[in-house]
Amino acid sequence: MVISDILKMFGKVDGSLILDELMDFDASDIILKSNMRIPKEIEEKILEFYEEYRSNTPIHYILGKKNFYGRDFYLEEGVLIPRFETEILIENILELKEDFSKVLDIGCGSGIISITLALELKNSHVTGVDISDRALRVSNINKKNLDATNCSFIKSDIYEALDKNQKFDLIVSNPPYITKEDMKALDDRVKKEPKMALFGGDDGLDFYRKIINNASDFLNPKGYIAFEIGYDQGKTVPDLLNTAGFKDISVIKDYNGFDRCVIARSGI
Ligand SMILES: C[S@@+](CC[C@H](N)C(=O)[O-])C[C@H]1O[C@@H](n2cnc3c(N)ncnc32)[C@H](O)[C@@H]1O
Repeated sequence: MVISDILKMFGKVDGSLILDELMDFDASDIILKSNMRIPKEIEEKILEFYEEYRSNTPIHYILGKKNFYGRDFYLEEGVLIPRFETEILIENILELKEDFSKVLDIGCGSGIISITLALELKNSHVTGVDISDRALRVSNINKKNLDATNCSFIKSDIYEALDKNQKFDLIVSNPPYITKEDMKALDDRVKKEPKMALFGGDDGLDFYRKIINNASDFLNPKGYIAFEIGYDQGKTVPDLLNTAGFKDISVIKDYNGFDRCVIARSGI
Protein backbone atom coordinates (compact mmCIF):
# COMPACT_ATOMS: atom_id res chain seq x y z
CA MET A 1 0.00 0.00 0.00
CA VAL A 2 1.26 3.52 -0.87
CA ILE A 3 0.20 6.93 0.45
CA SER A 4 -2.14 7.71 -2.47
CA ASP A 5 -4.08 4.46 -1.79
CA ILE A 6 -5.23 5.89 1.57
CA LEU A 7 -6.81 8.86 -0.19
CA LYS A 8 -8.62 6.50 -2.56
CA MET A 9 -9.94 4.38 0.31
CA PHE A 10 -11.02 7.15 2.69
CA GLY A 11 -11.35 10.17 0.39
CA LYS A 12 -9.08 13.21 0.50
CA VAL A 13 -10.32 14.83 3.72
CA ASP A 14 -10.62 11.72 5.92
CA GLY A 15 -7.52 10.12 4.35
CA SER A 16 -5.47 13.22 5.21
CA LEU A 17 -6.64 13.03 8.84
CA ILE A 18 -5.48 9.41 9.04
CA LEU A 19 -2.09 10.25 7.52
CA ASP A 20 -1.69 13.13 9.94
CA GLU A 21 -2.58 10.89 12.89
CA LEU A 22 -0.56 7.80 11.98
CA MET A 23 2.39 9.26 10.07
CA ASP A 24 2.42 12.92 11.10
CA PHE A 25 2.02 13.90 7.44
CA ASP A 26 0.88 17.39 6.43
CA ALA A 27 -0.68 18.40 3.09
CA SER A 28 2.68 18.85 1.34
CA ASP A 29 4.00 15.45 2.58
CA ILE A 30 0.90 13.84 1.10
CA ILE A 31 1.61 15.35 -2.34
CA LEU A 32 5.40 14.92 -2.32
CA LYS A 33 5.41 11.36 -0.96
CA SER A 34 2.28 10.03 -2.72
CA ASN A 35 4.12 6.92 -3.98
CA MET A 36 5.86 6.12 -0.69
CA ARG A 37 5.26 2.60 0.73
CA ILE A 38 3.45 2.50 4.03
CA PRO A 39 5.26 0.60 6.83
CA LYS A 40 3.70 -2.80 7.58
CA GLU A 41 2.45 -2.04 11.11
CA ILE A 42 0.78 1.19 9.96
CA GLU A 43 -0.79 -0.62 7.00
CA GLU A 44 -2.36 -3.12 9.44
CA LYS A 45 -3.81 -0.26 11.49
CA ILE A 46 -5.19 1.39 8.34
CA LEU A 47 -6.91 -1.85 7.29
CA GLU A 48 -8.50 -2.05 10.75
CA PHE A 49 -9.73 1.54 10.37
CA TYR A 50 -11.10 0.71 6.93
CA GLU A 51 -13.23 -2.15 8.29
CA GLU A 52 -15.02 0.35 10.55
CA TYR A 53 -15.07 3.08 7.91
CA ARG A 54 -16.80 0.80 5.40
CA SER A 55 -19.67 0.36 7.82
CA ASN A 56 -20.14 4.16 7.82
CA THR A 57 -18.46 4.89 11.14
CA PRO A 58 -17.37 8.56 10.99
CA ILE A 59 -13.61 9.06 10.88
CA HIS A 60 -13.59 11.10 14.11
CA TYR A 61 -15.05 8.16 16.05
CA ILE A 62 -12.42 5.89 14.53
CA LEU A 63 -9.60 8.28 15.46
CA GLY A 64 -11.21 9.06 18.84
CA LYS A 65 -10.70 12.78 18.59
CA LYS A 66 -11.70 16.04 16.92
CA ASN A 67 -9.94 19.37 16.86
CA PHE A 68 -12.03 22.33 17.99
CA TYR A 69 -10.83 25.92 18.34
CA GLY A 70 -7.22 24.73 18.14
CA ARG A 71 -7.49 22.01 20.79
CA ASP A 72 -7.87 18.25 20.42
CA PHE A 73 -10.96 16.85 22.15
CA TYR A 74 -11.34 13.16 22.99
CA LEU A 75 -14.40 11.64 21.33
CA GLU A 76 -16.28 8.35 21.18
CA GLU A 77 -19.45 6.94 19.65
CA GLY A 78 -22.62 8.06 21.40
CA VAL A 79 -21.46 11.70 21.60
CA LEU A 80 -21.98 14.31 18.86
CA ILE A 81 -18.93 15.04 16.70
CA PRO A 82 -18.03 18.72 17.17
CA ARG A 83 -18.65 20.81 14.05
CA PHE A 84 -16.37 23.54 12.76
CA GLU A 85 -19.38 25.92 12.55
CA THR A 86 -19.68 25.91 16.34
CA GLU A 87 -16.41 27.86 16.46
CA ILE A 88 -18.40 30.82 15.06
CA LEU A 89 -20.56 30.75 18.20
CA ILE A 90 -17.43 30.86 20.38
CA GLU A 91 -15.87 33.69 18.34
CA ASN A 92 -18.99 35.83 18.59
CA ILE A 93 -19.36 35.26 22.33
CA LEU A 94 -15.71 36.28 22.86
CA GLU A 95 -16.25 39.35 20.67
CA LEU A 96 -18.87 40.60 23.14
CA LYS A 97 -15.85 41.30 25.41
CA GLU A 98 -18.02 40.85 28.50
CA ASP A 99 -16.75 39.65 31.86
CA PHE A 100 -19.04 36.65 32.22
CA SER A 101 -18.56 35.33 35.69
CA LYS A 102 -21.08 32.46 35.38
CA VAL A 103 -21.89 30.67 32.14
CA LEU A 104 -24.35 27.83 31.50
CA ASP A 105 -23.88 25.53 28.48
CA ILE A 106 -27.03 23.47 27.79
CA GLY A 107 -26.38 20.17 25.97
CA CYS A 108 -22.61 20.13 26.49
CA GLY A 109 -21.93 16.94 24.45
CA SER A 110 -18.16 16.40 24.35
CA GLY A 111 -17.70 19.62 26.34
CA ILE A 112 -16.30 21.71 23.48
CA ILE A 113 -18.27 24.89 24.23
CA SER A 114 -17.96 24.72 28.03
CA ILE A 115 -14.26 23.91 28.02
CA THR A 116 -13.31 26.36 25.26
CA LEU A 117 -15.14 29.21 27.01
CA ALA A 118 -13.62 28.21 30.36
CA LEU A 119 -10.12 28.26 28.87
CA GLU A 120 -10.66 31.53 26.97
CA LEU A 121 -12.47 33.31 29.82
CA LYS A 122 -10.24 32.47 32.75
CA ASN A 123 -12.31 34.46 35.28
CA SER A 124 -15.54 32.65 34.42
CA HIS A 125 -17.00 29.47 35.78
CA VAL A 126 -18.82 27.41 33.15
CA THR A 127 -21.46 24.83 34.07
CA GLY A 128 -22.18 22.31 31.31
CA VAL A 129 -25.34 20.20 31.47
CA ASP A 130 -26.42 17.23 29.41
CA ILE A 131 -29.00 14.48 29.74
CA SER A 132 -26.57 11.86 28.39
CA ASP A 133 -24.26 10.06 30.86
CA ARG A 134 -21.89 9.29 28.03
CA ALA A 135 -21.61 12.95 27.02
CA LEU A 136 -20.91 13.90 30.65
CA ARG A 137 -18.21 11.24 30.94
CA VAL A 138 -16.52 12.46 27.72
CA SER A 139 -16.82 16.12 28.88
CA ASN A 140 -15.07 15.21 32.13
CA ILE A 141 -12.29 13.39 30.26
CA ASN A 142 -11.78 16.51 28.10
CA LYS A 143 -11.86 18.79 31.14
CA LYS A 144 -9.05 16.73 32.67
CA ASN A 145 -7.03 16.36 29.45
CA LEU A 146 -7.20 20.09 28.74
CA ASP A 147 -6.73 21.14 32.36
CA ALA A 148 -9.89 23.26 32.45
CA THR A 149 -10.34 23.77 36.17
CA ASN A 150 -13.04 26.47 35.93
CA CYS A 151 -15.83 24.31 34.51
CA SER A 152 -18.04 21.55 35.85
CA PHE A 153 -20.57 19.16 34.37
CA ILE A 154 -23.98 18.15 35.74
CA LYS A 155 -26.59 15.68 34.54
CA SER A 156 -29.74 17.67 33.83
CA ASP A 157 -32.74 17.64 31.51
CA ILE A 158 -32.19 21.23 30.33
CA TYR A 159 -32.64 23.31 33.56
CA GLU A 160 -34.27 20.58 35.68
CA ALA A 161 -31.34 19.79 38.03
CA LEU A 162 -30.30 23.44 38.47
CA ASP A 163 -31.03 25.51 41.54
CA LYS A 164 -33.20 28.52 40.65
CA ASN A 165 -31.17 30.66 43.05
CA GLN A 166 -28.17 30.20 40.79
CA LYS A 167 -28.11 32.88 38.07
CA PHE A 168 -25.91 33.05 34.96
CA ASP A 169 -24.57 35.96 32.91
CA LEU A 170 -24.66 33.88 29.73
CA ILE A 171 -26.68 30.86 28.66
CA VAL A 172 -25.18 29.22 25.59
CA SER A 173 -26.48 26.22 23.69
CA ASN A 174 -25.99 24.26 20.52
CA PRO A 175 -29.15 22.20 21.04
CA PRO A 176 -30.53 19.39 18.90
CA TYR A 177 -32.24 21.31 16.05
CA ILE A 178 -32.90 18.97 13.13
CA THR A 179 -36.54 18.72 12.05
CA LYS A 180 -38.47 15.46 11.71
CA GLU A 181 -38.40 15.85 7.92
CA ASP A 182 -34.64 16.55 7.71
CA MET A 183 -33.85 13.57 9.97
CA LYS A 184 -35.01 11.29 7.13
CA ALA A 185 -32.44 12.72 4.72
CA LEU A 186 -29.35 12.48 6.96
CA ASP A 187 -26.13 11.15 5.48
CA ASP A 188 -25.37 7.53 6.52
CA ARG A 189 -22.35 8.61 8.58
CA VAL A 190 -24.36 11.31 10.40
CA LYS A 191 -26.95 8.62 11.24
CA LYS A 192 -24.21 6.97 13.36
CA GLU A 193 -24.34 9.99 15.69
CA PRO A 194 -26.80 9.95 18.63
CA LYS A 195 -30.35 10.86 17.65
CA MET A 196 -30.83 12.65 20.96
CA ALA A 197 -28.08 15.08 19.95
CA LEU A 198 -29.71 15.85 16.59
CA PHE A 199 -33.49 15.68 16.73
CA GLY A 200 -35.16 18.94 17.74
CA GLY A 201 -38.81 17.90 17.44
CA ASP A 202 -41.19 18.19 14.48
CA ASP A 203 -40.14 21.74 13.55
CA GLY A 204 -36.63 21.55 15.10
CA LEU A 205 -37.50 24.23 17.66
CA ASP A 206 -38.42 22.22 20.78
CA PHE A 207 -35.18 22.95 22.65
CA TYR A 208 -35.11 26.65 21.73
CA ARG A 209 -38.67 27.02 23.09
CA LYS A 210 -37.85 25.23 26.35
CA ILE A 211 -34.57 27.09 26.87
CA ILE A 212 -36.00 30.53 26.02
CA ASN A 213 -39.25 30.16 27.94
CA ASN A 214 -37.49 29.39 31.23
CA ALA A 215 -34.38 31.50 30.69
CA SER A 216 -35.58 34.35 32.91
CA ASP A 217 -35.40 32.03 35.97
CA PHE A 218 -31.67 31.50 35.39
CA LEU A 219 -30.37 34.68 33.75
CA ASN A 220 -29.02 37.70 35.59
CA PRO A 221 -30.53 41.07 34.56
CA LYS A 222 -29.29 42.01 31.07
CA GLY A 223 -27.79 38.52 30.75
CA TYR A 224 -27.04 37.08 27.32
CA ILE A 225 -28.34 34.06 25.49
CA ALA A 226 -26.34 32.62 22.58
CA PHE A 227 -27.48 29.82 20.29
CA GLU A 228 -26.18 27.88 17.37
CA ILE A 229 -29.08 27.50 14.92
CA GLY A 230 -29.90 25.56 11.77
CA TYR A 231 -29.42 27.31 8.39
CA ASP A 232 -33.20 27.92 8.10
CA GLN A 233 -33.88 29.04 11.68
CA GLY A 234 -32.62 32.63 11.33
CA LYS A 235 -36.16 33.98 11.58
CA THR A 236 -37.96 31.48 13.83
CA VAL A 237 -35.46 31.53 16.73
CA PRO A 238 -35.26 35.38 16.82
CA ASP A 239 -39.09 35.45 16.78
CA LEU A 240 -39.17 33.17 19.85
CA LEU A 241 -36.65 35.44 21.60
CA ASN A 242 -38.56 38.57 20.66
CA THR A 243 -41.84 37.15 21.96
CA ALA A 244 -40.12 36.25 25.25
CA GLY A 245 -38.97 39.89 25.65
CA PHE A 246 -35.30 39.53 24.64
CA LYS A 247 -33.60 42.62 23.18
CA ASP A 248 -30.61 43.37 20.91
CA ILE A 249 -31.21 40.20 18.90
CA SER A 250 -28.54 39.57 16.28
CA VAL A 251 -28.26 36.77 13.73
CA ILE A 252 -24.75 35.79 12.61
CA LYS A 253 -23.94 34.01 9.37
CA ASP A 254 -21.37 31.26 8.79
CA TYR A 255 -18.67 31.32 6.09
CA ASN A 256 -21.11 29.85 3.55
CA GLY A 257 -23.54 32.71 4.11
CA PHE A 258 -26.07 30.65 6.11
CA ASP A 259 -27.60 31.91 9.35
CA ARG A 260 -25.68 30.06 12.08
CA CYS A 261 -25.91 31.82 15.47
CA VAL A 262 -28.29 34.07 17.37
CA ILE A 263 -27.22 36.22 20.28
CA ALA A 264 -29.66 38.27 22.37
CA ARG A 265 -29.90 40.06 25.68
CA SER A 266 -32.47 39.72 28.41
CA GLY A 267 -34.96 42.60 28.38
CA ILE A 268 -35.15 42.49 32.19
C1 LIG B 1 -26.21 19.26 19.06
S1 LIG B 1 -25.54 18.42 20.46
C2 LIG B 1 -24.32 19.63 20.97
C3 LIG B 1 -23.16 19.04 21.68
C4 LIG B 1 -22.01 20.03 21.93
N1 LIG B 1 -22.46 21.16 22.71
C5 LIG B 1 -21.44 20.51 20.61
O1 LIG B 1 -21.67 21.67 20.25
O2 LIG B 1 -20.76 19.71 19.92
C6 LIG B 1 -26.84 18.56 21.62
C7 LIG B 1 -26.59 17.94 23.00
O3 LIG B 1 -27.79 18.10 23.77
C8 LIG B 1 -27.94 16.97 24.60
N2 LIG B 1 -29.35 16.87 25.01
C9 LIG B 1 -30.39 16.31 24.34
N3 LIG B 1 -31.52 16.40 25.05
C10 LIG B 1 -31.20 17.06 26.20
C11 LIG B 1 -31.95 17.48 27.35
N4 LIG B 1 -33.26 17.24 27.44
N5 LIG B 1 -31.30 18.11 28.34
C12 LIG B 1 -29.96 18.36 28.25
N6 LIG B 1 -29.21 17.99 27.19
C13 LIG B 1 -29.80 17.36 26.17
C14 LIG B 1 -27.46 15.82 23.74
O4 LIG B 1 -27.12 14.70 24.53
C15 LIG B 1 -26.27 16.46 23.01
O5 LIG B 1 -25.08 16.22 23.72
